[in-house]
Order: sequence, then structure tokens, then C-alpha cells
Amino acid sequence: MNSIENGVSDFISLRHVTKSFETMSGDIVTALRDVSLQIPKGAFVTLLGPSGCGKSTLLRLIGGLIEKTSGDVLLGGKAVEKPTNQVGMVFQSPVLLPWRTVLENATLAADLGKLSRAEARETASRYIRLVGLEGFERKYPGELSGGMQQRVAICRALVHNPSVLLMDEPFAALDAMTRDHLQVELQSLWMAGDKTVVFVTHSISEAVFLADYMVVLAARPGRVVEVIKVDLPRPRTLDMVNSAEFGGYVSHVRGYFEAEERAA
Ligand SMILES: Nc1ncnc2c1ncn2[C@@H]1O[C@H](COP(=O)(O)OP(=O)(O)OP(=O)(O)O)[C@@H](O)[C@H]1O
Ligand SMILES: [Mg+2]
Repeated sequence: MNSIENGVSDFISLRHVTKSFETMSGDIVTALRDVSLQIPKGAFVTLLGPSGCGKSTLLRLIGGLIEKTSGDVLLGGKAVEKPTNQVGMVFQSPVLLPWRTVLENATLAADLGKLSRAEARETASRYIRLVGLEGFERKYPGELSGGMQQRVAICRALVHNPSVLLMDEPFAALDAMTRDHLQVELQSLWMAGDKTVVFVTHSISEAVFLADYMVVLAARPGRVVEVIKVDLPRPRTLDMVNSAEFGGYVSHVRGYFEAEERAA
């Protein structure tokens, strides 16, 4: 079992989780097989692995959006059965409501009854500034670039102050400078609170920069191959990316992907 930290009470817990899908043509695809993963409260965990290895599936299971085929998925000791307000989710594509403005999309949580409208607007405006979208509050999603839409989706996930943040390649559509900036901001936001974050990325360097623990997955079937503790001091800065220690983590993980390519 991939226990991230022995002796720490696990907040998110997957025990022998298997998830299979039946495809339109009637075949069975095993997206995840016998995945066990224990995540302590307040940890920042990054998930890395080749396309199709089940990263999004893993997040959707934790978020209660899909049902496991077998095994246990627990959040705070309780079986996950449906989505809750405790969790904020940023999907791989932004899924904004096209008829609502940036601000209205970002304040969707208010409509779910958790925040007053005024509170939601104030918090959303703060996050909209943080992600560099000040001035776009009254625009509609169709008037924004893909990267801008993704930043609105990030605001929406944060507005109701969830204790768990599940982020599926949230920065993939962003230019390199915005991405660097948001990595630093996300780290600050996380350090200031006690959120547990599970963050999917294809960028090894992003995974190292953000993580307490990096979870490396392999495909066919999707499974955990290693959990790596990242022992770099916090707050991490962008120049640390050039350090030998940082490079050591990157090349260790890259080794897995090169081995997969050789095997393919
Ligand atoms: N609803 C579904 N129906 C059928 N198969 C699915 C479904 N969702 C996912 N799969 C399959 O499960 C596997 C894992 O998919 P998943 O989206 O979790 O991968 P991923 O690691 O997020 O990939 P990527 O990096 O490309 O986003 C894939 O083989 C995919 O085809
Ligand atoms: Mg995915």
C-alpha cells in the first residue's frame, strides 16, 4: 500500500480501488486497478502519468462524480458517495455556463446556498484579481481565450473555500509566465490555509514545484508505481527550479516516462 506518511491519520483514503468503464462498443476498460493511496489532511499531492493512465478518473472518484467498481474511497473517514461542498473541483476543460458572465460563473457557489451573494462576489472578485482577470468580470466565456476560461474555473472552485481542492491540469492551457505566476500563488494560498490539494499535471517540473508528495501512475491498467516525497523547503521560488536538488527529482520521474516510451 502506498501510505504517504505512516502514523498520520489519512484524510483521503483509497483502498484497493478498481474502476472499469464499459465503452460504447461494449468493451470493458479498466481505468484504475487496485489503487491504494493515503493522503494526510493538508497535504499537497501531485499526480503524474501518461495520457489515459486514470488521473482524471482518480480525481472524479475522490470528488464523488463517479462510482468505483470495487474497493473503498473515503474522505474524512466517510465513504464518498456524491459530490459535496467540502470539495472544489477544477476540471480538465473549464465547463463554464456560457450565459453567465465571468463574475456570475465565479460566484456559482452562492447559488448553491453556502455563501451570501455579497460574500461570494467579494471573494470571487479577489480571486479574479489574483488570476489576472481584473476588468473581465462582465465578459462572457465566449469572449475569453481558453486559458482565461480556465482561470475563471479556478476562481469558481475556490470561492466557497473548500477544504479539498481537486485540480485536473488546471494550468495546462496557460502561457508559461501566467503558469509560473499561478503556481506561486497557489502555493501561497495553500500555505495560508489547511486545504488538501490533489493536482494533476503533465509537467514534471510543475509537479515537483508544488508537491509534498508526487504520485507517479502508469497506464494499462492505471496503477500507482511510486509515491515520492519532495523535501524542498517552502515557500518554493521559481529559481529553485534550476537547483541540482530540484533537477534530481525531475530526472528521477522522467526515468519512468522514458522507460514507458522504450516499452511502447
Ligand atoms: N466515461 C468513460 N467511458 C469509457 N471509458 C472511459 C471513461 N472515462 C475514462 N475512460 C477510460 O479510462 C482510461 C483513463 O482515462 P482518464 O481520463 O482517467 O485518463 P487521464 O490519465 O486523465 O488521461 P489524460 O492525461 O489524457 O487526461 C482511458 O483509457 C479512458 O479511455
Ligand atoms: Mg485527464
